[in-house]
Amino acid sequence: MSSLIKKIIVANLFFFTSICCNNKTHEHTHSKKQTSSLKNTFHNDFFIGAAINQNQILGQDSMAKLLLKKEFNSITSENNLKWMYIEPSPNNFNFVISDKFVALGEKNNMYIVGHTLVWHSQIADYMNEITDSVRMANYMESHIRALVGRYKNRIHSWDVVNEALNEDGSLRESIFYSLLGEEYIENAFRLAAEVDPKAELTYNDYNLCKPSKREGVIKLVQNIQKNGAKIDAVGIQAHWNLNDPPLDEIEKTILAFSKLGVKVMFTELDVSVLPNPWELEGVDENQNFQQFEGNTKMNPYPLKLPDSIQVQLTKRYEQIFALFLKHQEKISRVTFWGISDKQSWLNNWPIKGRTNYPLLFDREYQKKDAYMGIINQKKQTQF
Ligand code: XIL
Repeated sequence: MSSLIKKIIVANLFFFTSICCNNKTHEHTHSKKQTSSLKNTFHNDFFIGAAINQNQILGQDSMAKLLLKKEFNSITSENNLKWMYIEPSPNNFNFVISDKFVALGEKNNMYIVGHTLVWHSQIADYMNEITDSVRMANYMESHIRALVGRYKNRIHSWDVVNEALNEDGSLRESIFYSLLGEEYIENAFRLAAEVDPKAELTYNDYNLCKPSKREGVIKLVQNIQKNGAKIDAVGIQAHWNLNDPPLDEIEKTILAFSKLGVKVMFTELDVSVLPNPWELEGVDENQNFQQFEGNTKMNPYPLKLPDSIQVQLTKRYEQIFALFLKHQEKISRVTFWGISDKQSWLNNWPIKGRTNYPLLFDREYQKKDAYMGIINQKKQTQF
């Protein structure tokens, strides 16, 4: 059975009519005009998504707007659906930007991803002051009901719970876990499924190619399944660098999650080329890296990416996509965390004020070598 047919079977009706038919139209146009783009190249394999920021949602970044329409068939909101922006005070929702985000996706027939419902970070301040578990449970419930309900049948996929695990695979001591216990996770999935039964529901996290954290996700998913709640996918964030994680660990992760019967997605892909402060001696997981701001060793390419590093970046992207293509029937979406290097969050994280080069389009919105590199991977599979 072709992967396209498999994807149609797992997809809901709306998805089928709006996206697959659209893809067929693209195929037709493609053969006529010979337009090459990421979304056309991989349209039988997986969605190609981008996270977009507020300026881009509002259409204030005209170059990004052109690239978004031409190259991508899925969008994720980089920040605007997060708790601190969308429910800044209890039961006071600000849907102005998120409405525009969803409308933009619909206008362009895109697969629309809601990021994220339950996450310990970028939370509203009042959440941190709650000490009563009933109150916390009510807030979580009303938040999920409000967001999923408003965009029912319109946001196709939700990152229901984000980053619930520690590096060793145990549950993170978030405000949700400490007040509600482990069940908060399956309850979040249950609520989202109740409000929009057709939405794709995802658990999303980083460092999932590390064995201990990967094992933690496997247990988490099995637990949700055992208790009869609905979970459709695991999102591997994929904030990677030139050497890490190793390809064989990425492959093990794809296979391990797919074995659970869920879709595998790469939800926040970018490849940092800068020194990684966590690799320095004596640094712990939650370190604040303010001390490195302005340190030229930690920001070695402030003006231009040297050719030798560009070559490494291209090779890394080629290897990553060769692997994705090998397992395309298990992978439903690959989303880049941004469109161009200019607005990547990696210019300011984990050290502020650096110049990073993690994406396929440079600061002038031009294609980097990695762009053609990944398209060529696809072409090679066709001969
Ligand atoms: C990041 C955004 O890109 C930044 O603009 C923001 O300042 C912090 O959050 N994992 C996630 C994303 O799930 O929501 C984070 O996005 C990156 C790490």
